[in-house]
Amino acid sequence: MSAKLAFCAGLNHSQFLFLHSPYLRRMNEQPTYFDIVAKTQFGLEELLATELRAIGATDIELLTRAVKYQGDKSVLYRSNLCLRTALKVLVPFASFYAHHENQLYRRVRQIDWEQYLTTEQTFAIDATTNSEIFHHSKFTALKMKDAIVDQFRDKYGIRPSVDTNNPDLRINIHVHDKLVTLSLDSSGATLDRRGYRLDRTEAPMNEVLAAGIVMLSGWDMQSDLLDPMCGSGTFGIEAAMLAANIAPGRLRVFGFERWKDFDATLWRNIKADAERAERPVTAKIWSSDLDPEAIEVSQKNARRAGVEGMIDFQLGDFLESLPHSARGTILLNPPYGERLQWEEDIIAFYKEIGNRLKHHYAGHTAWIISANAEALKFVGLRPSRKIKLFNGALECRLQKFEMFAGSKGGAKTEHGFNGLDTD
Ligand SMILES: C[S@@+](CC[C@H](N)C(=O)[O-])C[C@H]1O[C@@H](n2cnc3c(N)ncnc32)[C@H](O)[C@@H]1O
Repeated sequence: MSAKLAFCAGLNHSQFLFLHSPYLRRMNEQPTYFDIVAKTQFGLEELLATELRAIGATDIELLTRAVKYQGDKSVLYRSNLCLRTALKVLVPFASFYAHHENQLYRRVRQIDWEQYLTTEQTFAIDATTNSEIFHHSKFTALKMKDAIVDQFRDKYGIRPSVDTNNPDLRINIHVHDKLVTLSLDSSGATLDRRGYRLDRTEAPMNEVLAAGIVMLSGWDMQSDLLDPMCGSGTFGIEAAMLAANIAPGRLRVFGFERWKDFDATLWRNIKADAERAERPVTAKIWSSDLDPEAIEVSQKNARRAGVEGMIDFQLGDFLESLPHSARGTILLNPPYGERLQWEEDIIAFYKEIGNRLKHHYAGHTAWIISANAEALKFVGLRPSRKIKLFNGALECRLQKFEMFAGSKGGAKTEHGFNGLDTD
């Protein structure tokens, strides 16, 4: 995680500090605003900040791969339910300096863990370290676990158990140099796991990245949206959910639902409000692929997401396709070529993608994401925007290509529309 997450840098090295609004301690005071940190993918921070403004977050501050903000419990719940570009929503509750492992152990043991846990409950620790002292994140997590269980064992003779898969409480420890920040993980499983993609094809795109690309594309939610190499259907499904204003987390359960202070009535009301805000989709969304299995998988995923009726699925080769109307947004996640034996194959493939766009898709805007920077050059159109993103561990470029409709005659479309070559 980013080094910039050191958001209590004013600490004196000998201080032990609960952050200024220790969340669970003040749960009876109304209203309670506290620090929240939403983690995201590189390049999506500004989109996330925009989403946060819309759900009532305040004091928004952009970090790298994260956004810090203030909110009350309803903002926290809405963050998990509604944010399309967040991966995790954390509530920092303690921060301190530690110069060695034993000091970390002692500091963690000083915290009253009964505020958060009982001996019957289970917990898990996620550690990220960026430190010369604490370089093994697993060992750091182990030290922290020992401090927590020793506190309970000393007091009651029994201790809460660790469950890494489905714990009652997930705690995050982040160490930057000597600064340790502890957070409660309100999300549980990462938020890209919306719950609709149980079937998948090869190399499916992370849902958070797909939603981010739909939003970065500036699609107006009125004109056509095309995902002509749809794989498991992620772009089309995320686009449909966005246009229908369907909360991305509506199929999920979240970590905060098992917290001691969980407010079931507030949560029910927030979910009911989100459902009431859903709206019909007027835009046409087209998802296609040349692999019949991809179409089958995409349809199943869309059905689970509740958007099957909003997407047209078609089997077909993009390289032989024609547009459905005069304008639209095309989101393309072509293979990057890791599996192709000959470099020329992937270059020829990207050339053909460019030719198809040039000769047949005038009036459309295409966004292509690829980790293959060399192949992208062979699309043969000048990108009007380039955005650095990561698809998993792979550094990618998202490039925007505008195929302007003009007076010079281009190839005919299904509807007799005349396109124009841009170069
Ligand atoms: C990287 S995957 C897309 C993953 C997708 N974005 C997802 O979230 O699952 C690339 C897809 O392009 C499809 N494909 C490759 N060549 C194609 C072509 N000429 N026309 C249509 N689809 C093609 C493959 O079948 C594969 O499903």
